[in-house]
Amino acid sequence: MNVVDDVKQKLDIVDVLSQYVKLQKSGRNFKANCPFHSEKTASFFVFPEKQSWHCFGACGTGGDIFTFIMKKEGLDFGQALRLLAEKANVTLSYKSEKSNKEEQDRLDRLYKINEVAAEYFHYLLLHSGEAEKARNYTEKRGLSAKVIDDFQLGYAPNKWDELGSHLAKAGYRDEDMLAVGLVATRDSGGHYDRFRNRLIFPLRDIKSRVIGFGARALDDSVPKYLNSPETMIFNKSNVVYAIDRAQAAIRQKDAAVITEGYMDTIAAHQFGYENTVACMGTALTEKQISILRRFSKNIIMALDADTAGDEATRRSIITTNEQIPRDYWMPWLEPKTYDELVKYEVQVVEIKGGKDPDEIIRKSPEQWGKLLKESQPIIDFTLKKELGTINQNSPGDKSAFVSKFLPILAHIDDPVRRAHYVQKLAALLKMDQRIMHEDLFNLLNQEKKGKTSRGNKVIRSYAGQVESSKPIEEYCLALLLQFPDLRPTGMKLSTEYFEHEDNKDILFKWQENADVDSIVASLDPAIHDYFDHLLALGKQLPPSLGQSKRERDYALNDSINRLQERHVRNLEINKKLILIEEKEKGDSEGELAKLKELGIDESPQLKDIFKKRGRFFSRTKGV
Ligand code: UTP
Ligand code: MN
Repeated sequence: MNVVDDVKQKLDIVDVLSQYVKLQKSGRNFKANCPFHSEKTASFFVFPEKQSWHCFGACGTGGDIFTFIMKKEGLDFGQALRLLAEKANVTLSYKSEKSNKEEQDRLDRLYKINEVAAEYFHYLLLHSGEAEKARNYTEKRGLSAKVIDDFQLGYAPNKWDELGSHLAKAGYRDEDMLAVGLVATRDSGGHYDRFRNRLIFPLRDIKSRVIGFGARALDDSVPKYLNSPETMIFNKSNVVYAIDRAQAAIRQKDAAVITEGYMDTIAAHQFGYENTVACMGTALTEKQISILRRFSKNIIMALDADTAGDEATRRSIITTNEQIPRDYWMPWLEPKTYDELVKYEVQVVEIKGGKDPDEIIRKSPEQWGKLLKESQPIIDFTLKKELGTINQNSPGDKSAFVSKFLPILAHIDDPVRRAHYVQKLAALLKMDQRIMHEDLFNLLNQEKKGKTSRGNKVIRSYAGQVESSKPIEEYCLALLLQFPDLRPTGMKLSTEYFEHEDNKDILFKWQENADVDSIVASLDPAIHDYFDHLLALGKQLPPSLGQSKRERDYALNDSINRLQERHVRNLEINKKLILIEEKEKGDSEGELAKLKELGIDESPQLKDIFKKRGRFFSRTKGV
């Protein structure tokens, strides 16, 4: 049994939680006012049989003792485990601590061995006679003594057993040399040095530990660079070269510049652009971006001229979507302008006057600064670049261009950013943007339809996402107030789908009165401010909604569907609760069976809503 199970078995959820909330018996279960949001009626339930808890109210969360303590005390899992283990008198087992320690010792040895190798290579580059040609090479490439030192560049001599025997003499074991890939095994037994006759670049992680090496040939031999193999401490797709030396500057300048190569990054540092790192020549990975975003939201790609292709574009859009905080791209939560969002976009430097940053920087450091300033969002960059390749007077070229770009734009989650690019594309091609909006809109519907047909999974994940229907209610009302032509649909909306009294009231008054003034006159003065807030929200809706009747119809229907889903779900939960209580009283077999059957997923009402949604999509598509 692991520690977690052990702790769970020794502690009772009711005991633990009653130290935080006043639990009241309710049948076999306990209930209380939810400690995570304010409420008048108890919707926080604790289920001793399952050793779990759930809030059926506004926060809709639940879990076990661990999640409760984490949420209540603001701890991470490890901290909660320690706290609860202490309560349960469970010692975090000696065995696991011991094996953890062994593992940690091994890793420490691997880092250490790399460190010793880096020092040795560096020493050889500076002092060995054989390294003469390597020193000539660094001079030819314009590397200053300072960067050679800062980046601890080294030289691996042209011998099969130089590093290996050096490390052995220093007391390191073969198995550890092998584990970090500094040596490789011979078929005949024994081992040989992996890196020979190469300029060495130690690769360090954020804590400055040497995790691997890159090794450049001094002439045209292939491969140009030989890197460490994947090891316990080296994973190429996570490496951000020079992050340890760049992090302070990235913070200070609030921007990170990513180049492709070691040499580009070193040149940048040599000339004062210390917020520069390299991605090891491969396509930028999400992991690399997320490492950089810890220090700055502004990511600037300075890839070689020939590599900023479609794949990079696609990646960056996906990455940007993921980085934009949820409330930035859920328009009903907090609409943002394009200018506020653009900082989450990856920027691209146009490589001009040289084949890569290294060449440009060494030619003119000032020119590099200028190019950095002129960097533009990746989509703008790609648009402009691709536009140069077509004949803008040819309708065929133009339409092919649009078909190529709309799917890219469809991948942008945020409607404000999406609309911005549709406008831009239309302006560049001198085309009617309404047509483009409609095409894009159809594309989006096709995608969403694909998603909903995956059925219940979506319902469930949706349930997890939206915690309160208030934002959707607000969005819905803002739409109705802003666009009078939505009235026919709005008249059919039932106030029971709204949970919040103020919103119910406003919807009711809107249905009774045709114009804003009479609505205001009929409203309780206490909610006038709130009403003004809704009017203001309406003014900030994405411009594309104002331009396309179909898009605003979609927006309204979509929000109504969401409210309906929520409403039905709440009904189901209530039903479940009532059944639980009845079961508590009567314990009848029949009720038990019914309870089992009553999964939310099985709800016929929800199925109906999704069918309706599907119909709505197929109706709008291709009309
Ligand atoms: P580049 O060919 O642009 O290298 O590859 P570079 O750093 O600019 O070096 P120079 O200027 O030609 O000397 C970019 C990066 O791709 C990886 C390395 O990380 C390199 O820095 N790469 C390239 C390899 O891993 N293996 C290779 O054979 C080539
Ligand atoms: Mn280069």
